[in-house]
Amino acid sequence: MVATDQVSPRVLLMITGGIAAYKACFLARLLQQAGFAVKVAMTEAAAHFVTPLTLKVLSGHPVATDLWGEGQSEALDHIEYARWADLVVVAPATANTMAKAAAGIADEIVSTLLLAFPGPVLMAPAMNDNMWRHPATRANLQVLTGRGVHMVGPGSGWLACGTNDTGRMAEPEDVLAAVLDLARQGGFAPDAAAVAGAGPWAGRRVVVTAGPTHEPIDPVRYVANRSSGVMGYALAAAAVAAGAKVTLITGPAALAPPRGLGALVRVETAREMADAVAVALAEDPDWLVMTAAVADFTPAAPADGKLKKEDLGTGWSLEMVRNPDILGEIVPAARKPRLKVVGFALETADLEARALAKLRAKNLDFIVANDPTSPGSGFGAKAHRLVLLGPGGVIWESPSAAKAELAEALLAQLGAVGTGAGA
Ligand code: C5P
Repeated sequence: MVATDQVSPRVLLMITGGIAAYKACFLARLLQQAGFAVKVAMTEAAAHFVTPLTLKVLSGHPVATDLWGEGQSEALDHIEYARWADLVVVAPATANTMAKAAAGIADEIVSTLLLAFPGPVLMAPAMNDNMWRHPATRANLQVLTGRGVHMVGPGSGWLACGTNDTGRMAEPEDVLAAVLDLARQGGFAPDAAAVAGAGPWAGRRVVVTAGPTHEPIDPVRYVANRSSGVMGYALAAAAVAAGAKVTLITGPAALAPPRGLGALVRVETAREMADAVAVALAEDPDWLVMTAAVADFTPAAPADGKLKKEDLGTGWSLEMVRNPDILGEIVPAARKPRLKVVGFALETADLEARALAKLRAKNLDFIVANDPTSPGSGFGAKAHRLVLLGPGGVIWESPSAAKAELAEALLAQLGAVGTGAGA
């Protein structure tokens, strides 16, 4: 764990009783990974959704659960946690807790600690959409924000009550971003250098490319390949989770981008991807991970208007020209010494030898090889197998696993072997 009470800014996480309470578990983890010490207080209702034990294990501290009982004896006196904290986050904040906070009621542990805490408070409301729109909640919200309480969310989407509306608790990554903003404003943000010491990816700047590129034939048609973008998105998500600041440059992919990205750049063509990579490299990142399946060729003269079959006759040919090789041509021109470059190689025969040849030709630090035709891999398959190679040959062979799992394992391998210059 990064955080120690002596050096870390301190967040008191208050959990109140809504189904979104499960998200507070992720938030506790994210806060710690970002360098905060975390203690938790929860209402009795919250304890119906997640157990105090879970939060005790996650936070490493006793959880304040009530004013009089066991939780109280562990948390010493009932306002000790309020004295301890630099900042309070109420996530999820129910309509009830917001109402009590607005009225200054202190009749259980969370509302009591809230009243006893003089510092900055951030609330992440979560409730049914009608409750959120109710004039009582609107009035309480106004009182609270007027008093300087900060709000994050709620967002829109599926609610536990079955409607698709406003009332969802902000995602833990967005709550963390709001906490970091407040901590910066208050001058108690975690020390980035101390956090960076937490793991090989913490604080690193990582550029990941993902997905296919679409090369236009005319305004409605394109040449592409079968890349889904899943591996690149999973690697970007794993790098975010490991504390990296990630720029994801993606070709067209039908995937929700991971939360917590530093930047998301959407491109269509190989040319646009090359330009986006050059811009990203100008910011001097630590890593470039090129999972994108960049089209090698593009139509020489895309038509301005839709091509009509009547004009094309019974057969026609499309003239293609070479796209820039991003790793082979664009990266060397923009490369700073500390940048580690990882390429991907999809080969259906002679996997390792060809991947190694590619690594050498493109001057890569690492290459990840996979064979979609081998057993345990393939387009649309649930499980895949990867081989990680460095200039000296094979470094690691993965088991056959789902791409999200492989991404995490691959990142751990890269973090372990890439901790020389630049890491
Ligand atoms: O030579 P090949 O296309 O198989 O190499 C694959 C690796 O090169 C991948 O990492 C891919 O992202 C990258 N690549 C590139 N520019 C291209 C084609 C592929 O950077 N035009």
